[in-house]
Amino acid sequence: MTLRPDSTPSLVSPSISDCQLVAPLKLGIMASGNGSNFDVVAQAIQDGQLNAQIQVLIYNNPSAKAAVRAADRGVEAVLLNHRNYKSREEFDEEIVQTLQHYDVEWVILAGWMRLLTSVFMDAFPDKIINIHPSLLPSFKGIHAVEQALASGVKITGCTAHIACLEMDSGPILMQAAVPVLPDDTPETLHARIQIQEHRILPLAIALAASSSKTILKPIHLG
Ligand code: GRF
Repeated sequence: MTLRPDSTPSLVSPSISDCQLVAPLKLGIMASGNGSNFDVVAQAIQDGQLNAQIQVLIYNNPSAKAAVRAADRGVEAVLLNHRNYKSREEFDEEIVQTLQHYDVEWVILAGWMRLLTSVFMDAFPDKIINIHPSLLPSFKGIHAVEQALASGVKITGCTAHIACLEMDSGPILMQAAVPVLPDDTPETLHARIQIQEHRILPLAIALAASSSKTILKPIHLG
């Protein structure tokens, strides 16, 4: 008998394998750092699993690897550095104008590390999706993985949800559970959580859009 839980399988809820998509979703992705979630959405589109197109990547950190990934994939990327704006509202106004310029319908917060104001939320009501590395409503904020480890929970995971003004809150679209292993560090645990983020984010986008009756192409779970 082994007492070591297998770290690979994960419970994903809801379990969906097909979403019908009417027309390509016009996505705007916002990222501050690595951009692996940007990449999986782009790959799902390229593989024909998600009927969408990425209109633009917005990034706020000049050294964000997400920008390199966008260039590699031929996606337009716009740097909007929050340090150049007097207020959060002014910054958000510029983001909204940029997203509207690129004709974005759905906004994906894929590791966007800035708080958003009502200026932003009101411009895309119920059309902003966030991915977060915990089973919300537990462990909100930037150190979600560290919080999970410190709390001693044995299962954590990730959540894709419709974003609202309150940080890491809003209707949950999809979650995946990930076991916490005895020798986990924030890095090892986050790496396993990210495998699940990459699994659920494209599905959650399709799910959200199909709920609002906009999609029409099958999406298959890997
Ligand atoms: C992810 O863990 C996401 O849940 C959180 O920020 C991280 C972004 O990762 N909001 P990446 O930049 O997509 O690799």
